Amino acid sequence: MRSAKDFFAPLAVGAPAPVREVPARPSRMIHFFDPSNPKMAAKVPGMVGTVDVLLGNLEDAVKAESKEAARQGLVDIARATDLGEQTQLWTRINSLDSPWALDDLTTLVTQIGEKLDVVMVPKVQGAEDIHYVDRLLAQLEAKAGLTRPILVHAILETARGMANVEEICGASPRMQGISLGPADLAADRRMKTTRVGGGHPGYLVREDPSRDLGEGVDPVTAPRSVHQQDLWHYTIARMVDACAMHGIFPYYGPFGDIKDVVACEDQFRNAFLLGCVGAWSLHPVQVDIAKRVFSPSAEDVAHARRVKEAMGDGTGAVMLDGKMEDDASLKQCLVILELADRLSA
Ligand code: GLV
Ligand code: MG
Repeated sequence: MRSAKDFFAPLAVGAPAPVREVPARPSRMIHFFDPSNPKMAAKVPGMVGTVDVLLGNLEDAVKAESKEAARQGLVDIARATDLGEQTQLWTRINSLDSPWALDDLTTLVTQIGEKLDVVMVPKVQGAEDIHYVDRLLAQLEAKAGLTRPILVHAILETARGMANVEEICGASPRMQGISLGPADLAADRRMKTTRVGGGHPGYLVREDPSRDLGEGVDPVTAPRSVHQQDLWHYTIARMVDACAMHGIFPYYGPFGDIKDVVACEDQFRNAFLLGCVGAWSLHPVQVDIAKRVFSPSAEDVAHARRVKEAMGDGTGAVMLDGKMEDDASLKQCLVILELADRLSA
């Protein structure tokens, strides 16, 4: 049985004190499986210990006629599987305006609540959705005699949810984190993409044609460099700020082009560098990408240690390899060291 300490460790040593303390267990990859799919379900026991989070998905990608089979499948898998200390069990329930969400929560909390770490709630619009889930969880936990609170994770995938992201993050002490849901969010915003996450070749910036290219060169027809831009930069940055303000964890969501491992790694890395702690994995190949990307590199850890040592009592400024280090760069290094410690614990 996990202790309360595992769930309420501080967010980051040396970082500004979080408003609240949230579970600090690694969750670099949230690995999705469909519990109604026997082939996928059979693989679950073999993934225990190799992934940080196993998530039984009941929502989108599960056919309407399989919703009940998926729910029951998750109950059966949870009962039959020893999850050990490394791997958490999460679920994504159906959306709160669907015919299934109430039954999802009632069945899962009363039947496997002691094994369930986090409930992911899709299409969250505002604090009221989190309040509803929070109160329902409280009732169901009391009914089931659970002593450990089940935590809540919201998916940010509507324009309204995006506009309310700060209040969603602070809506309940159960809030564990937020994931970007790029596919639903794109549709709700009426973006012109058709993919599940990732970029678009048409979203680009071209070098300005007005620069002086020399005598006789037409700037409009001259070759100009073109750079594809990150469609999700604003959204991720805003989500990260809201999560940091409330001391909870931000995640990039799904990357649907399983074969494009290079672009997946780039998207995950951009999210990591901006402050995200993990992403969803939809295929085993993405588990390895997430593990690599969301763990600080040995080089970064070694550099952070050098800065920490050079900074002594943590005040003032020093020069290291020609660069100025001070209290603020030390704080950034401590974030990396704290993450490295947490992952090696
Ligand atoms: C995930 O649920 C998404 O909509 O991207
Ligand atoms: Mg979605």
